Amino acid sequence: MVESKFSKVDFSKYFQPPSLKDARRRRREPVHIINDFSIPDEMKTIGRGKKYLIETYGCQMNEADTEVMAGILEKMEYQETEDTDQADIILINTCAIRENAENRVFGHIGRMKQLKLEKPELIIGLCGCMAQEETVVNKVLQTYQQVDLIFGTHNIHRLPQLLQEALFSKEMVVEVWSKEGDIVENLPMARHGHFQAWVNIMFGCDKFCTYCIVPYTRGKERSRRPEEIISEVRELARLGYKEITLLGQNVNAYGKDLKDLDQYGLGNLMDEIRKIGIPRVRFTTSHPKDFDDHLIEVLGKGGNLCEHIHLPVQSGNSDILKIMGRGYTREHYLDLFHRIKKAVPHASFTTDIIVGFPNETEEQFEDTMSLVRECRFDGAYTFIYSPRSGTPAARMTDNVPMEVKKERLQRLNALVDELAAKSNAKYQNQVVEVLVEGESRKNASVLSGHTRTNKVVNFVGPETLIGQLVHIKITEAKMWSLDGEWQREPEVAGR
Ligand code: 5AD
Ligand code: SF4
Repeated sequence: MVESKFSKVDFSKYFQPPSLKDARRRRREPVHIINDFSIPDEMKTIGRGKKYLIETYGCQMNEADTEVMAGILEKMEYQETEDTDQADIILINTCAIRENAENRVFGHIGRMKQLKLEKPELIIGLCGCMAQEETVVNKVLQTYQQVDLIFGTHNIHRLPQLLQEALFSKEMVVEVWSKEGDIVENLPMARHGHFQAWVNIMFGCDKFCTYCIVPYTRGKERSRRPEEIISEVRELARLGYKEITLLGQNVNAYGKDLKDLDQYGLGNLMDEIRKIGIPRVRFTTSHPKDFDDHLIEVLGKGGNLCEHIHLPVQSGNSDILKIMGRGYTREHYLDLFHRIKKAVPHASFTTDIIVGFPNETEEQFEDTMSLVRECRFDGAYTFIYSPRSGTPAARMTDNVPMEVKKERLQRLNALVDELAAKSNAKYQNQVVEVLVEGESRKNASVLSGHTRTNKVVNFVGPETLIGQLVHIKITEAKMWSLDGEWQREPEVAGR
């Protein structure tokens, strides 16, 4: 499937346009586990003395994919660099979730033209979710000749072969499979952190929220086998990792496709991981529809399961939720929220919200505001709805002017800020457990880390604390972070 830079690409061969009909069909297709990752002999040392740089946009799934690509490149003896001028390969791992994310990438590739002119042997690759979109691939083929390689989210394990093509063929190499039912195990991985790690538990999404491009760019829901996940977590524990985050677009659907296991879900998986000697376990992203009682019960057991739940609500109005295709009502969300809160009393909650969905009325938006007030979220990612070509919502006519959407976003953000400040204020004078992640972004003499509830804490302490769990007494609560003092002798168990 290698295409000449100038030839007409037959997208029907490898691009799956958004289609709900196909999606329903795809759920029944079997998942194949592929174990045949290989590097051609001629590529095994191709990177000796050369450097790579991967730029990552978007979510944690992309960050995890970047670690796999880095692992593959390092197996070919490439070394990492952060300096664009030093790089022999630059891969841009993209996000397609909103239009502005895409525009930033196009602007960036545009500026790389000069770099390619100065260094023609430089390989520039575009991968990630944007690469799964036909319109994007077309645009790159027509406008951005500086790009050498485009590969999709299902083709990452083929990086050695694709790079070989790109290095030796002089033509733009395009490989984007819509073949989406596979899980590739045993890929190399160059993990970015030494004490925090991502662990993919599932891939894809079958929820098809009407605004969202992810089910098309990431393919169908498929779960890794529990034994693979558990052995990966055990290995991370053995290596001294302190925190893992279980990853998936919709982790609550974990296990639904593992038909040979009897109703094995995220609750079961977390109950097993709870017993592994790793101090902190997080999970993201949750979907309210699939969040079941067993998981709530397991989270209530605490231990290494951190008290932070990211539970995207998207809207507080049941009619909007219905046309978003979310599969739950405002009442269901609130009931779930309160049940989790009861089981995990000190939990912090964050959410995602879209404002200005097509035809959202002022009253419907006010329902979102009142839900946010009721839940008193610790934080929220808020977005103006962005139409994504091919999704059902993009075909809806919309009577809400952009100024109204912007004004709603501002009002929502003001409320979110106010609640974040209030929730942080509760930490004043408390002693909390912090995983020290490094120097603070703003001040190198200050260390920074997160509480179990995912609050940022800054404090002064020796560098030797990096990577350790320490106790910090909070001296000043700000809106988005907490300042504190390092306690050599922990006073109480932190939260
Ligand atoms: N427009 C705006 N926000 C979106 N999100 C997903 N798709 C869109 C879109 N088309 C938001 C949702 C999701 C988060 C990751 O991004 O809130 O939870
Ligand atoms: Fe997108 Fe909805 Fe799937 Fe989340 S659950 S990735 S918002 S389709």
